[in-house]
Amino acid sequence: MLVDKEKLDALVGRLFGDLSAGYGGVMVSLGHKLGLYRAMAGAGPVSSSEVARRSGCGERYVREWLNAQVAGGYVDYHPISSTYELTPEQATILAEETSPVFLPHAWQVVASMWADEPKALSAFKTGEGVSWSEHDERLFCGVAAFFRNSYNGSLVQEWLPALTGVTQKLARGARVADIGCGHGHSTVLMAKAYPQSRFWGFDVHPESIAAARAVAREAGVEDRVTFEVAKADGFAQNGYDLICFFDCLHDMGRPVDAARHAASSMADDGTLMLVEPFAGDRVEDNMNPVGRLYYSASTTLCCAHAISEKGTHVLGAQAGPRQLEEVLRSAGLGSVRRAAQTPFNLIIEARR
Ligand SMILES: C[S@@+](CC[C@H](N)C(=O)[O-])C[C@H]1O[C@@H](n2cnc3c(N)ncnc32)[C@H](O)[C@@H]1O
Repeated sequence: MLVDKEKLDALVGRLFGDLSAGYGGVMVSLGHKLGLYRAMAGAGPVSSSEVARRSGCGERYVREWLNAQVAGGYVDYHPISSTYELTPEQATILAEETSPVFLPHAWQVVASMWADEPKALSAFKTGEGVSWSEHDERLFCGVAAFFRNSYNGSLVQEWLPALTGVTQKLARGARVADIGCGHGHSTVLMAKAYPQSRFWGFDVHPESIAAARAVAREAGVEDRVTFEVAKADGFAQNGYDLICFFDCLHDMGRPVDAARHAASSMADDGTLMLVEPFAGDRVEDNMNPVGRLYYSASTTLCCAHAISEKGTHVLGAQAGPRQLEEVLRSAGLGSVRRAAQTPFNLIIEARR
């Protein structure tokens, strides 16, 4: 076997960079949970002792952590004064919890995937599924917090206005269902923006529904938001004006049944909003960091859950617009169009 030395070196460099990022992910999680990034945000150049003092942590640990951050480009270093600085851009991604690009929570999903590796190993061998509820609990909080920030930045400002006539109905007072709502951040965001409307969130995972109720209570919207444990093809029909699926239709083993149930639960001029991970239709369209992340998560989370439902489909998180449109049309929704998109999400509107 002839090995091209140049290609080998380039690939080793690439894999080593990935390995280094994996170690760095543990450091990002520590930095977030210990308040190290927050201690540095807006502080200008600071010594390791000052970061340790502000965060209430041991200086020697903090100094080693800081050096790892500098090596990764997540913190700047000033050699003359031996000080460390979190720039405004670094702070936006690592310290500002409400920023749409705040990323530390995403490492909780990776942590859950490592913790559940034995389940994945066995599932590959048996071909059986692993349901959402069987995973390490860091998955649920990690996914909820990661998606929440992107919904925060786009849902009310861009996605709802991109749907035909929906914001007018919401402002007047509409009935909205959020299917596969998880921790309910999307439901609560919409409820806060549209106080005249009434909202229902449904999910099969009881612990997520309990968490969603707490999110609604904390936001003070529990009088107009109801969360119930229910399957996507069995939730209470209620003449909804808007039915939403946020990053969950591809997880379902019977997505056509779910969309058909939604279609028959809508008011005559109701709208279905489908939010899915961004993807192209062909494998070769998705060969980029977003595709890599979603195909990986999809392998042990999304496909595994859909297989566990023993249904008709295993779409995966990179299903792409053509397959999604097919699912919606098979469910009797004749009018389907892409309403909006971001680098991470496709937003599809479907009507009867
Ligand atoms: C990736 S999470 C997304 C959660 C939430 N929509 C969000 O954006 O944060 C997928 C959710 O779909 C739910 N789910 C999966 N299959 C379901 C089904 N057949 N019926 C209802 N919910 C389902 C899971 O329990 C999980 O909460």
